[in-house]
Amino acid sequence: MQVVAVANFKGGSAKTTSSLYLAQYLALHGYRVLAIDLDPQASLSAMFGYQPEFDIGENETLYGAIRYDGDRRPVSEVIKKTYFDGIDLVPGNLELMEFEHETPRAMLQGGRGRDMFFRRVSGAIADVEADYDVVVIDCPPQLGFLTVGALNAATAMLVTIHPQMVDVASMSQFLLMTADLMAVIEEAGGTLDFDFVRYVVTRHDPNDVPEAQIVALLRGLFASDVLDATAWKSTAIANAGLTKQSLFELDRGSVGRAAYDRALESLNAVNSEIEGLIGKVWER
Ligand SMILES: Nc1ncnc2c1ncn2[C@@H]1O[C@H](COP(=O)(O)OP(=O)(O)OP(=O)(O)O)[C@@H](O)[C@H]1O
Ligand SMILES: [Mg+2]
Repeated sequence: MQVVAVANFKGGSAKTTSSLYLAQYLALHGYRVLAIDLDPQASLSAMFGYQPEFDIGENETLYGAIRYDGDRRPVSEVIKKTYFDGIDLVPGNLELMEFEHETPRAMLQGGRGRDMFFRRVSGAIADVEADYDVVVIDCPPQLGFLTVGALNAATAMLVTIHPQMVDVASMSQFLLMTADLMAVIEEAGGTLDFDFVRYVVTRHDPNDVPEAQIVALLRGLFASDVLDATAWKSTAIANAGLTKQSLFELDRGSVGRAAYDRALESLNAVNSEIEGLIGKVWER
């Protein structure tokens, strides 16, 4: 099983949109996919038609499976079917914040060994390892305990990046902080062995000169760690998010055929590259 964490603490870098389309692409190509919404804002759940404040009750998010007290339950009990064939979902809602609040307390009370916070997400995922080929985790835009748990569980990380200068600056910060944190976790006995880490350029307008310069800069810095394909900026993608219908489901006529085709082509190019990376890992 591959566990792909989509992360970056820069808000709005298209983590959720990228997670959604990766999950759908993989499901359409025959993979059994579990999508995990680790963001208390729960945008991914909403895109799958679950209103976090109405449809998701207490103890029905991943928090239920990673909490420290006696109400912890198996992750299989919080997995929901989605209308999209081949994708199951662990939905999110505000309750996930509890994990950020309770972890410091649990650590003070000496939660060592298998109780260490960073092993909880991976432990929950390990319980359903036989049921899925790929797990896609949509991380919140913070480097909190949830994100660290997701990165510890992950076998691959995608860092989404909107090619604007402020975003690049904040991404560098994210990488530095991630490296620091992971070093601490490894010292505490955690693992960090990604099969691959890739930067994914998102919301990209290829005709915008400053953006093109920033993408060139990223490729200069990170070389082949930046995916060749970029997700193009497209009102079709933005609208699909709003109407809670992805491009795979929208009827072409509703967004204009050329725009639809261009948007879908760029997303498919990104996701097929990711599928290729997953396939290479499985070959080994
Ligand atoms: N390729 C794209 N073209 C146009 N708009 C896009 C594209 N990808 C994402 N968006 C829009 O950008 C906004 C942010 O996207 P998204 O919610 O996926 O980012 P995020 O990184 O998950 O944000 P947050 O940090 O709040 O979780 C949304 O309104 C989304 O519809
Ligand atoms: Mg998001």
